[in-house]
Amino acid sequence: MTAICEYKPGLENIPAAQSSISYVDGQKGILEYRGINIEELAEKSTFLETTYLLIWGALPTKEELLAFEHDIRYHRRIKYRIRDMMKCFPETGHPMDALQASAAALGLFYSRRALPDPSYIRQAVVRLVAKIPTMVAAFQLMRKGNDPIQPRDDLDYSANFLYMLNEREPDPLAARIFDICLTLHAEHTMNASTFSARVTASTLTDPYAVVASAVGTLAGPLHGGANEEVIDMLEEIGSVEKVRPYIENCIERKSKIMGFGHRVYKVKDPRATILQKLAEQLFEKFGYDKYYDIALELERVIEEKLSHKGIYPNVDFYSGLVYRKMGIPTDLFTPIFAIARVAGWLAHWNEQLAENRIFRPTQIYTGDHSMPYVPIEKR
Ligand code: SDX
Repeated sequence: MTAICEYKPGLENIPAAQSSISYVDGQKGILEYRGINIEELAEKSTFLETTYLLIWGALPTKEELLAFEHDIRYHRRIKYRIRDMMKCFPETGHPMDALQASAAALGLFYSRRALPDPSYIRQAVVRLVAKIPTMVAAFQLMRKGNDPIQPRDDLDYSANFLYMLNEREPDPLAARIFDICLTLHAEHTMNASTFSARVTASTLTDPYAVVASAVGTLAGPLHGGANEEVIDMLEEIGSVEKVRPYIENCIERKSKIMGFGHRVYKVKDPRATILQKLAEQLFEKFGYDKYYDIALELERVIEEKLSHKGIYPNVDFYSGLVYRKMGIPTDLFTPIFAIARVAGWLAHWNEQLAENRIFRPTQIYTGDHSMPYVPIEKR
């Protein structure tokens, strides 16, 4: 079979679906969820309201939002058998691997085959959005040798996650900023993990497998895993004076600078601009962070040296500074990205089910034909 269009590595500019969930203008730096600008959602919405918007296509009424928030609160706990399973995970393992395994394990308890009926979809959405943060927090406490703590019904989604993680109630400003971070990370068109989610969804497997496959894809350093590596890089650089030689060395060695560059954005990612402001708010309240100055210098030097290639900060550049100031361990940054992105993955799962056709692209074969089978003793 011959391919009908030119091969593009990384499927650059090839549409993989028709979608009304989000929109990016990479030249102007615009991101919209269901047509609403990300700046407006960050300021006025909450993560759960945005999740509702992404999945069901419209902002909820007051009653719809209250019912959704209530259902999420009610489903936050995880089964003791999942907790017991997680206790067997090595405490040295990466929390993204723990999350991928735990998300897949939810499928052991609930129906295997996805059904495109609204009540099945709502139930799966509620379970996944509610339980993923509990699983991330549980692994964090268990690897420190503590028992996980139960969610608190009187706390909202983000405050409850920070409470389960740190075993104390969060500062209200930190909880609100964390919620905005989740909103900013909730969805982003056909990125690698969402593509992975849609391919998995197209086989009609269960939504837990859809999310597990997407978590595995998000983990890589070219995608969500970059937020963790940004902090490692800032620590390695160590001072503002060392930024320029560090960048010059990276450019000479042609190595990628983490938190910079994007397939779609050729200007600064609008989410990075918002995250930078959130980091500043946190520094104002909780004290200055020297890594912020290093980050600013990094952005300046990269603009000078690489802006002709359209390389600017992406979403992963400033998020780490925000989470770090909240005292969150670096290797939880990508699981937190996953907590947020589960909204987008599920919105794409829902959209895929509505007009499903299994993904089955083609390939360009570059191997041999009619080769003889050589017996092992003659190889
Ligand atoms: C996310 O897709 C999404 O929407 C993802 C995301 C989401 O919300 O889902 O926005 C989240 O994944 C953000 C990206 C996080 N990754 C990183 O920060 C890792 C560092 N950045 C990259 O490796 C890179 O920019 C990618 C992976 C993000 C994009 O890769 P592309 O589109 O395949 O671009 P490329 O690697 O082919 O680079 C094109 C050119 C090359 O130069 P030339 O060979 O043409 O001369 O730009 C250069 C690259 O060398 N380049 C960089 C660079 N990124 C691109 N050079 C130095 N440092 C970088 N970070």
